[in-house]
Amino acid sequence: MTSLTITPGRPLLGTIAVPGDKSITHRAIILTALANGVSRVARYCRGEDCLNTMRALQALGVRIDESVEELQIHGKGLWGLTEPSGPIDCGNSGTGIRLLTGLLAGQDFFTVLTGDESIRRRPMGRIVKPLRDMGASIAGRKGGELAPLAVTGSRLRAITYASPVASAQIKSALLLAALFAEGTSRLTEPRLSRDHTERMFQFFGIGLKREGATLLVEGRPSVGWNGVPQLVVPGDFSAAAFFIVGATIVPGSDVTIQHVGINPTRTGLLDVMMSMGADIQLLNRREEAGEPVADIRVKSARLQGVSVGPDLIPPTIDEFPILCVAAAVAKGETVISGAEELRVKESDRIATVSTELRAMGAQITEQPDGMVVRGLGTAEKNGCLQAAHGRSHGDHRVAMSLAIAGLTASAPTVIDETACIETSFPAFQRTLLELLTERQ
Ligand code: S3P
Repeated sequence: MTSLTITPGRPLLGTIAVPGDKSITHRAIILTALANGVSRVARYCRGEDCLNTMRALQALGVRIDESVEELQIHGKGLWGLTEPSGPIDCGNSGTGIRLLTGLLAGQDFFTVLTGDESIRRRPMGRIVKPLRDMGASIAGRKGGELAPLAVTGSRLRAITYASPVASAQIKSALLLAALFAEGTSRLTEPRLSRDHTERMFQFFGIGLKREGATLLVEGRPSVGWNGVPQLVVPGDFSAAAFFIVGATIVPGSDVTIQHVGINPTRTGLLDVMMSMGADIQLLNRREEAGEPVADIRVKSARLQGVSVGPDLIPPTIDEFPILCVAAAVAKGETVISGAEELRVKESDRIATVSTELRAMGAQITEQPDGMVVRGLGTAEKNGCLQAAHGRSHGDHRVAMSLAIAGLTASAPTVIDETACIETSFPAFQRTLLELLTERQ
């Protein structure tokens, strides 16, 4: 079992980079594999989640040459995938298994998709049901509610679907299936979830229209799309989030994170942290692969509790574990509501974050759809947490959030079960140490 020991007492100082965006990397691998010709995907995320999606496409007959710097993907065209000889293992990745299920529903071959223990607990009915409405033939445990999923490729028809959940994984699974379906699919969601798939469709020139809140996709395009000489993946805002909060709550910190994606459907944490009093600047704004990018400079600041309601849930969805760390040391109460989706992430994040931060002295009350955090701070300074022996519950974002929480403790904190950090941010510990040892 791997563990991480965090020794507090020093500010975070210096300039760092974070891994390529995990969500964008999954999509880049899939859409370049369906393109005509070779594409290069640079600065991609080398976390296990994305490597599993890369291996899945290799198993589906796509040649992908892998180096640390870039993937060279030999696209096979829209109809070029071939039947894999064994089950596809998506590891820990909800994005991987859900997007691939959508992609494979309309092929003319059979596939089995599975993943680790956490993936086999997570809800799949949310994609299986609408895909079945399109004519997909998908079997799975509990009537298709749970993986493994066995997909017998079928001729799909377009769907008009209003998703009950604001979920980019549902939306993207259906957008991919819609490409292989007959007719025009129309998709809506209750609130806008991350729009990387839509942006990447546009980047590749894949037909997609937006009419108000509805996305329209024409199935079976007569001409496909071409590979691109280079697609540079922006840095992952969700990885940067740990250092945005870390630099804010550790006194004397000043950190710049270079080349970070600031797509507004992802940066709810910036809005929340700014309203809590954080000192954050977005510098050198530019665009990369149809996505807005900036360097983010963060200096330490005193925080004040805040209310986070349903509108801010989709753009903040992966940042609640680390936001709770900020809330725990802020002055006053932070109330998070409308966030029941947190219960079906890599872990039940309402339960795991509450349990672990409480063990560090935080005052958190669980609610069915969120939590109430009574911050330990005063008007003069942010509060401190206590050293503890924590555990990740197999959830990478819980592991990294506890590491940042440990920076405010009075003695070293040990976090167990940290191998899961590999799923998204293999260099997390090294990057944190870089900031802790930098001297100006
Ligand atoms: C993701 C969508 C979100 C997010 C996940 C990545 C994606 O999940 O939590 O980490 O890449 O589409 P939901 O779509 O289930 O909200």
